[in-house]
Amino acid sequence: MDIIVKPNYEEMSKCAAEIIAGFIRSKPDCVLGLATGSTPIGTYRELIRMHKEEGLDFSQVRTFNLDEYLGVGMDLSKPYEQDQSYARFMYEELFKHINIKKENIHIPDGLTKEPKKFCEWYEDEIKKAGGIDLQLLGIGRDGHWAFNEPGSSLASRTRVQALTKQTLDDNYESFYKKAGIKREDMPHFAITMGIGTILEARNILMLANGIKKADVVAKCIEGPVTSQITASAIQLYGGGATVVLDEEAASKLKNLEYYKHVEKMKRDYGF
Ligand code: GLP
Repeated sequence: MDIIVKPNYEEMSKCAAEIIAGFIRSKPDCVLGLATGSTPIGTYRELIRMHKEEGLDFSQVRTFNLDEYLGVGMDLSKPYEQDQSYARFMYEELFKHINIKKENIHIPDGLTKEPKKFCEWYEDEIKKAGGIDLQLLGIGRDGHWAFNEPGSSLASRTRVQALTKQTLDDNYESFYKKAGIKREDMPHFAITMGIGTILEARNILMLANGIKKADVVAKCIEGPVTSQITASAIQLYGGGATVVLDEEAASKLKNLEYYKHVEKMKRDYGF
């Protein structure tokens, strides 16, 4: 696992965008797994800048999003702040600013009438696309990847998942409150890729910033591998996992100085 620590959110975002852009440049039709939440917004802004100023080309890029709230779909008749779908988030924060083709975008359908069938179809689509080249991930404060809440099997696949109180509270504060939506009216279920699905990606890029994430980042990277912190599955990951943190999110890592040393050695000697 490569752990890169940057001084702040902006530098973390630039570093993540550079990694993603590297994949797009070396494989223009690469398959990206994308994430929502406040963490990747800066990364998406930097990718948009690279597209506009440096011609980063998304015309062949294919994407699969991690998750979507159940019962919610993109609603362009509402202003963005009232449409809390992840589909709308992706459209506003990335897709509408770049030259990605609509048919190359995949986001779980929160309005599906047959969630189980849909989840099987989503897994098949990922396979048909040849698998995910690079999966971008945040981490929830209860240690989840996507919406794989504590207790999710580390072999889980795309499915419907009930959300924990902690996740509902966090996402209410970050998104639903400003939409004027009542806490009790938030969706309590989501469609999410499973941990097993995520671990099949050929590369993983996990981001975390801010002091609020410091405890869970330390548990994820240095604690035991456990279904109680589903992101701890990163320790089982056999491909190339890169974790980019800001100083605050990294501040509770016991071996922080060692990770920084390794990263410097890699930069200096290119191994
Ligand atoms: C949600 C998403 C996750 C995301 C997490 C953290 O629960 N389903 O994919 O990682 O929030 O969000 P934030 O980046 O806002 O802290």
